[in-house]
Amino acid sequence: MAKYRIAWLPGDGIGIEVLEAAKIVLDAIDFEAEYIHGDIGWEFWCREGDAFPQRTIELLKNVDAAMFGAITSKPVKAAEAELSPALKGKGLVYRSPIVRMRQLFDLYISLRPCKAFRGNPLNFKEGIDLVVYRENTEDLYSGVEFSPVPEELSDVLKKLSKPFSAFAALEGDEYAISCKINTRKGSERIIRAAFEFAKKNGRKKVTVVHKANVVRATDGLFLEIAKEVAGDYPGIAMDEANIDAMTMWLLKNPFNYDVLVAPNLYGDIISDLCAQMVGGLGFGASGNIGEKLAVFEPTHGSAPKYAGQYKVNPIATILAAKMMLDWLGESEKGGRIEAAVAEVIAEGRVRTYDMGGSSKTLEMAEAIAGKLRVAATV
Ligand code: NAI
Ligand code: MG
Repeated sequence: MAKYRIAWLPGDGIGIEVLEAAKIVLDAIDFEAEYIHGDIGWEFWCREGDAFPQRTIELLKNVDAAMFGAITSKPVKAAEAELSPALKGKGLVYRSPIVRMRQLFDLYISLRPCKAFRGNPLNFKEGIDLVVYRENTEDLYSGVEFSPVPEELSDVLKKLSKPFSAFAALEGDEYAISCKINTRKGSERIIRAAFEFAKKNGRKKVTVVHKANVVRATDGLFLEIAKEVAGDYPGIAMDEANIDAMTMWLLKNPFNYDVLVAPNLYGDIISDLCAQMVGGLGFGASGNIGEKLAVFEPTHGSAPKYAGQYKVNPIATILAAKMMLDWLGESEKGGRIEAAVAEVIAEGRVRTYDMGGSSKTLEMAEAIAGKLRVAATV
């Protein structure tokens, strides 16, 4: 029996191509795994009315980790229009499988390492090496939203405090509410995860990103908990910054930062910023990590305009595979993959279109796999 069971979820469009590429690289190292295909994505929505079928959920309950490509999502109405005729009018509502996966399996960490590989023509600056820990389940993305605002809620708001009186005269359909909900538990576990990572990987500083001067209740809580947690890690400096200033400082001096931790929305923003500084979508790998399951993916989507062309950059997904190995405790193998990626980028002979070259997806994967095979025979 293989040592690990890995769920393999290609999804749609280029998701299929980049996972094929990652498999070539994983096959080039001695990683003992059984890969089990899982159905996910647009065709299952159209055909079965569920983009994340129950059988895939069951599969994820019985694996060590998962690799996920990308899916195509569409707004609710557009999605309904594409349902097979037999399923139309049954009240089925499209919901994003990746969002559901994060909720169902409580994948509360979104981990995004952003490292500038030497010689990548897309680097903003050489030497950037940032790691973002983004809370992945709550905050403004908790899904508690009202549009129109129901009377029970507007009545409560009017009663509760003066500042809301500006809304007192409004009808429910004249405003909308999205709730930012941050729990003590949710905040503590993501902050602790960031400090633990820093400790294990010899990182010097954790920067807490917030807006506690304005969003006092929720971000105030996040910051307060961060200060408590930091007390348990005397060897690691804690720093803090407002999200707006943070975007400026990151561009001005990315070398002042190391590990960043943030509530969901701010984490979403800074992780895209950091990813762009080290090459953009073709290089952005991420892990959705919980206590029992972790799902690794490139941060990009299914890029329908390139689907079937095998021209997109697979490095994001190959680095996601590397993150999976690290998470499984196979970091020696993960390190070898990263070194092979670094070598191919530094040589500059194989470059996909986004890097200014004309190499295809699987040529990039082969080049990286080639380095691993050579290393194994030396
Ligand atoms: P996208 O990330 O799929 O692509 C945007 C553009 O980025 C592409 O047209 C391409 O120019 C570039 N790009 C993306 N991946 C690349 C790669 N590996 N190498 C080189 N260039 C790359 O975002 P878009 O077009 O907004 O969304 C397309 C579909 O993907 C939508 O249905 C969207 O809902 C879905 N999506 C799914 C995600 C997921 O599965 N986690 C995440 C983001 C979007
Ligand atoms: Mg995003």
